[in-house]
Amino acid sequence: MTPTAITHVRYVALGVRDLAAQVEFYKDVWGLSPRESDTGLQYFGAPATQDPHILRLRASEFDRVDLISFAVPSAKHVDSLAAKLRGSGVRLISEPGTSAAPGGGYEFRFFDHEGRTIEIKSDVENVSAVELQERDWHPGKLSHVVVNSPDIEAAARWYGEHLGLQVSDRLADRMIFLRGDNNVHHTMAFAVAPHVSLNHVAYESRGIDEYLRASGRLIRSGLPCVWGPGRHGPGDNTFAYFSDQSGFVAEYTTALQVVDNWETWKPRVHPVTPEWSDQWGTANIRDPEPFVGRPDPGVHDAPPV
Ligand SMILES: [Fe+2]
Repeated sequence: MTPTAITHVRYVALGVRDLAAQVEFYKDVWGLSPRESDTGLQYFGAPATQDPHILRLRASEFDRVDLISFAVPSAKHVDSLAAKLRGSGVRLISEPGTSAAPGGGYEFRFFDHEGRTIEIKSDVENVSAVELQERDWHPGKLSHVVVNSPDIEAAARWYGEHLGLQVSDRLADRMIFLRGDNNVHHTMAFAVAPHVSLNHVAYESRGIDEYLRASGRLIRSGLPCVWGPGRHGPGDNTFAYFSDQSGFVAEYTTALQVVDNWETWKPRVHPVTPEWSDQWGTANIRDPEPFVGRPDPGVHDAPPV
């Protein structure tokens, strides 16, 4: 297994039945910054990232995941990853080429082994990132994405062999955390479910105070917190999960564990205990249903844009 060149999740794209409601949610409730829009498409950025967008919403007949886009450092990485995947019989949806999306870039797309559309992208036009001010509750950037799979061991193996994402930890036999070429505990994770679907997308707050302000702001507005606020054992990050207008789960998080030396890191198998699911003991009882979601109708069906 070769170490990954994937540095982070660049953006997540969702197809949604009620685009207007979702645009309003992510702008006015969740706190992302609307960027470019086009007929049936809306992009969102955030202040503390150079990525031109971290979320794309598209009007769709079904609520579905359109794609997950991973960042690599250069066009060379895009080309070599495309060649490697093609060579292993992976079905490419599009060959490496210039992106028509705002911010441009060089990208290709493929189906993973379970039919998710994955994009690999380099050379976007970076926007200027600013440091969030103290007490600013707005999410600063995308943190990580967790997806559901009936076979998380096979999924972690596939992502290791094909994309070089490596296991950083496990939560019993329920979750596998994967790291990219960066110093954070997880960039992606797989969670056990009966079907392929989105588990949640996590957005990073400036710090604990700002994360609590963001979470409290939503709770005060009457939006039920699906699970949280609390602090996970694995990854040590804080969590507060909420359902968006399509029923997808979004997370405010901060303080995800920084690992300075992966050479000496030993992946562990964390226990499932109340004390380790939430170190603080502040979170409500977790209802698994929103996280499991419905079977994703976007599986093996690449989005039109
Ligand atoms: Fe998370």
